[in-house]
Amino acid sequence: MTKKIFISFIAMVMVFSFIGVSFAFEAGNERKGKYLYRSNCRTCHKDGASATPLGPNNKTQAQWERTFEKYERLDCVKEWEKLSESDRNDILTYLHGHAFDSPSPATCD
Ligand code: HEC
Repeated sequence: MTKKIFISFIAMVMVFSFIGVSFAFEAGNERKGKYLYRSNCRTCHKDGASATPLGPNNKTQAQWERTFEKYERLDCVKEWEKLSESDRNDILTYLHGHAFDSPSPATCD
């Protein structure tokens, strides 16, 4: 009996941590996010342009989440404000899905 309770406890912990990890934000449209990132962010964030080259694998998932929570602090906040909240969420979905510590890290090329 005690063993059963222990096992269900472990199962619950696993379920909750899974929910915590995968639904830290509400996932948007990744394909659209990639397109939006390329047309609204990558224009500056690439080699030879005005800002640091940046792609999904330059940050971890947690770092991307934090960046999007606090984008008001960035030098390019004006660029972010041109986008709707839903567009920004699509971009986060794309970057998060291919972050450094994601199952499929990717650059933006
Ligand atoms: C008009 C050019 C421009 C656009 C467009 C732009 N940025 Fe920036 N961004 C900058 C500059 C300049 C800085 C500050 C210098 C630096 O970090 O390269 C910056 C800083 C940042 C930083 C902080 C630096 C870092 O590596 O953590 C992040 C993150 C960032 N931008 C993400 C974005 C995202 C996401 C978008 C699209 C929504 C975007 N930027 C659009 C110019 C731009």
